[in-house]
Amino acid sequence: MCGIVGYLGHREAYPIIIEGLKRLEYRGYDSAGIALFDGTNLNISKTKGKVADLENCVEKQISKNGNLGIGHTRWATHGVPNDVNSHPHTSNSGNLAIIHNGIIENYDSLKKELISRGYSFKSDTDTEVLINLIEDVKKKEGLKIGKAVQIALNQVVGAYAIAVVDKNSPEEIIIARLGSPLAIGIGDNEFFIASDASPFIEYTKNAIYLEDEEMAIIKKGKDIKIRKIKDDSLVDPYVQQLQINLEQIEKSGFDHFMLKEIYEQPKAINDTYRGRLLREEAIIKMAGVEDNMKKFLNANRIIIVACGTSWHAGLVAEYIFEDLARIPVEVEYASEFRYRNPVITEKDIVIAISQSGETADTLAAIKLAKSRGAFVFGVCNVVGSSIARETDAGAYTHAGPEIGVASTKAFTTQITVLTLIALRLARAKGTISSSDFRHYLLELEMIPKKVEKALQADAHIKEIADIYKNVSNFLYLGRGYNFPVALEGALKLKEISYIHAEGYPAAEMKHGPIALIDENMPIVVIATKTGHYDKVVSNIQEIKSRKGKIIGVVTEGDITVRELADHIIEVPDTLESLSPLLTTIPLQLLSYYIAVMLGKNVDQPRNLAKSVTVE
Ligand code: G6P
Repeated sequence: MCGIVGYLGHREAYPIIIEGLKRLEYRGYDSAGIALFDGTNLNISKTKGKVADLENCVEKQISKNGNLGIGHTRWATHGVPNDVNSHPHTSNSGNLAIIHNGIIENYDSLKKELISRGYSFKSDTDTEVLINLIEDVKKKEGLKIGKAVQIALNQVVGAYAIAVVDKNSPEEIIIARLGSPLAIGIGDNEFFIASDASPFIEYTKNAIYLEDEEMAIIKKGKDIKIRKIKDDSLVDPYVQQLQINLEQIEKSGFDHFMLKEIYEQPKAINDTYRGRLLREEAIIKMAGVEDNMKKFLNANRIIIVACGTSWHAGLVAEYIFEDLARIPVEVEYASEFRYRNPVITEKDIVIAISQSGETADTLAAIKLAKSRGAFVFGVCNVVGSSIARETDAGAYTHAGPEIGVASTKAFTTQITVLTLIALRLARAKGTISSSDFRHYLLELEMIPKKVEKALQADAHIKEIADIYKNVSNFLYLGRGYNFPVALEGALKLKEISYIHAEGYPAAEMKHGPIALIDENMPIVVIATKTGHYDKVVSNIQEIKSRKGKIIGVVTEGDITVRELADHIIEVPDTLESLSPLLTTIPLQLLSYYIAVMLGKNVDQPRNLAKSVTVE
């Protein structure tokens, strides 16, 4: 959470920082701020609200000149989102400024100590404590800014990605990382810093990703120096070539990133299995699985850890791993798992699923599992992310950058990767016949075309959205493989339209939610032909008797549900285990259109952030 951007070079820093902050707004958007060094002064402007609000403030408040600057878009942890709590924060002397993503856990004791030494604080933030701690160290020991940052960070408990500037060292930015991501773009005699590479991809493809417990001293006209925070020792920088391009992070004519990403799913799924699913040879090739096949085959069980939408993908995977590969699976919220003293043995495989690869709870769950001897496999979308690096092996989803805060293509590509793994293991274990395996490969290959077909219901779904946009509650029901889809459908609606929605296993409805059903309650029921169809039809009858409004997601050509439901949305036929890849599509579109019709900010829903780097 929180996005940070910085620039040091020969260009005007302001437009680079503002544009960069807009690209990072998915990380948090309740306040924003900037510090620009114009050669003499450190000019700071900050405000509650979005980056667009910051632009207005800058116009009125400060000069936009300067070749050095840092900017921040915030997701509040300590202190409400207001102007004062916004970053950058300055030290008492006004000489130092900082932007910070993360939490300083021992800020309270540090603050008391600093107050006792005469420091005063304007904000409620932990960040203002850190910058004054740095100032205190710097002054007491007469140090350069880089050294002061290093010493101060050794007194800090918590997580951070920070950038610090010093009015007295106007050609220098100090950055450091522990637990929150930080990338450095290296241009021609210029440097960019950012929480991910998107703010600088049009300027350079060369990037260094700082590792945990590392800091960098970035000076104009000099080589970057990377040091270990702990002992100040030098580290050799590893410069990577970035693969993303500008087009991938733009809206390309769509009104919102979310809609673009929904429509990207046929390609994203195809990209995810390309080179891995070799139908003609009837094999699945995944290096991360092949290299660790023995471990997978000897595993007593698989424990899946994840959060949010990724957790829902994990639930789908539970069905498919148990069904095809006959390996027992448990799916855990990473946030619960990490604090639960779970029983983990060396014969367990932990699969961590994360779009961003930065979710703090998932990362902590991985560390715990590793410390207990489990083999940890990552399923991530962001290449080089913390989770991708922390896991023993893994498989990327290749969905491309996902910018809309509500996850869409990440979900379907996660299911694609997990299906490939399950199939590969099933083949190796002999729990699937060769003909069934071939059939699966064929069906999987047809999924992108079928997703395209499912997307054609767009206009019809828009009409349904218009009918129900003003209700206060929604219920989503599904069974088997489509139970997690019901959860995901409800989550999507909650996230972006703020309508209360619950997902339930269809049969559980009668143990509670049925009490909510009346003529005002829309109920989305996933009732595809494969998978307990008759049972779900009975559930639909039960809803109908209570006058609930039924929106059925059905297989093309369905007759029975058509007669019972108020609306139906058709998806193409496929295998039951692959049906989540199709049934999810209309639910994404339904929540998208409802949110748009309600005038909500679809890509940046209130209180949410895409990359949850705090626990
Ligand atoms: C946040 C996002 C969700 C996402 C979840 C887990 O809540 O808003 O869209 O599913 O974090 O994120 P991850 O990056 O680990 O998949």
